[in-house]
Amino acid sequence: MTVRGISDAVRVPARARLWDSVDAVRISVIGCGYLGAVHAAAMAALGHDVVGVDVDAAKVESLSRGEAPFFEPGLDELLAAGLAAGKLRFATDFAAAAAAQVHFLAVGTPQLKGSRGADMSFVYAAVDALAPCLRPGVLVVGKSTVPVGTAAALAERIGPTGALLAWNPEFLREGFAVKDTLEPDRIVYGLPGVGADQARELLDAVYAKLPECPLIATDYATAELVKVAANSFLATKISFINAMAEVAEAVGADVTQLADAIGHDPRIGRRFLNAGVGFGGGCLPKDIRAFQARADELGVGRAVEFLDQVDAINLRRRERVVELVLETLGPEYQGHRVAVLGLAFKPESDDVRDSPALDVAVRLHGLGVDVVATDPHAIDNARRLHPQLAFVATAEEALAGAEVVVLVTEWAAYRGLDPAAAAKLVAVPVVIDGRNCLDVPAWRAAGWRYLGMGR
Ligand code: UGA
Repeated sequence: MTVRGISDAVRVPARARLWDSVDAVRISVIGCGYLGAVHAAAMAALGHDVVGVDVDAAKVESLSRGEAPFFEPGLDELLAAGLAAGKLRFATDFAAAAAAQVHFLAVGTPQLKGSRGADMSFVYAAVDALAPCLRPGVLVVGKSTVPVGTAAALAERIGPTGALLAWNPEFLREGFAVKDTLEPDRIVYGLPGVGADQARELLDAVYAKLPECPLIATDYATAELVKVAANSFLATKISFINAMAEVAEAVGADVTQLADAIGHDPRIGRRFLNAGVGFGGGCLPKDIRAFQARADELGVGRAVEFLDQVDAINLRRRERVVELVLETLGPEYQGHRVAVLGLAFKPESDDVRDSPALDVAVRLHGLGVDVVATDPHAIDNARRLHPQLAFVATAEEALAGAEVVVLVTEWAAYRGLDPAAAAKLVAVPVVIDGRNCLDVPAWRAAGWRYLGMGR
């Protein structure tokens, strides 16, 4: 079978596959961050023999105890089960991966300092460190988000070892990572021109026990592009609704009702149309920037120039929240107390990478506002980056004496705050709902001045 250039979407009846009888696959997962740790634990849950390798000894130690070094619902339980079953272990030494038949690359590709491009040094370092483990019959599978063209370059690099390379992008969301890995809505294989059947067979054996889902088998470049295209589309959808929020603010319209109305059109859909303080995290912002950098290198920069606008609209929303706070406090805003509810880039995560919530807190603090910030899980990570901020453990402590309350991460605990009880804690009952997630009539009825985003 030749696969290059062919994209076939087929329904795979997983439970009926031939390889249900195939033995457990010996797997290594290189890089045990949000992606790799979840992938390793999930592969062990599917019955494979898995070793996770990471150069960070503290991370490996924590994972070996069954404790995820970050907050991800359900992951500790999955780790514990894999470790107890003897299906999962973690190591700092690449030699631990020597016996694996399939090596997943799950290292980070963060934004380079001073450039829009991705820092690919971890990917290349991982592949080089893996080289002694590679031989004919072994498959290296890229999961990291990379600039298109990387898989072809890596295939060439490992070529002399006789090992094969496939690209298998990951679409998991933080906060739902376990579910997304064990119940994916699609699987993409980027297969080599030569050795496609072998590579596919091994990947099929790895994923045989997953529930039925569409499988798209294609070439390297398409598989790499699928990932950045998906994240670019999601970012564009969010920035589209945030652009509508800007217009709604100018005319006194309500962007939430607008989103509900256009979202009823199934061609548009309501998901990812929540206007607010915008997107952040370790993926969407850096992926749209790296895509632009790569497109420029390929001479097709104009095709994705709109992503620059997507980024700009997104960042303007953070400024808007800061502006609303300053307008509310008046010209003598310095030294006035503001409660910031939320630091993580989204709920169910302790990740503060490029977090709009943390950015708002830092900007306000930088302007001399007396910021008191809180988050159910992200305080330690926020403090490491910005020790200058004042943190408190609970919303109640943050609200005490506040002259403005700013909600920037829509944790259930904040959405469910009792507005009457909250009003008794603050000095002035003004709330800026940076995620448009509060029950507006209830807050107004409890005496609050409510300010939303684009409404
Ligand atoms: C994103 C993608 O959703 C995943 O499919 C992808 O696998 C992942 O990146 C990745 O590349 O690894 P994630 O970063 O976990 O996942 O977060 P999202 O759920 O996509 O949310 C991103 C940001 O958009 C958050 O800050 C969220 O608050 C914001 N958002 C989301 C909005 O502002 N409005 C919305 O309507 C939806």
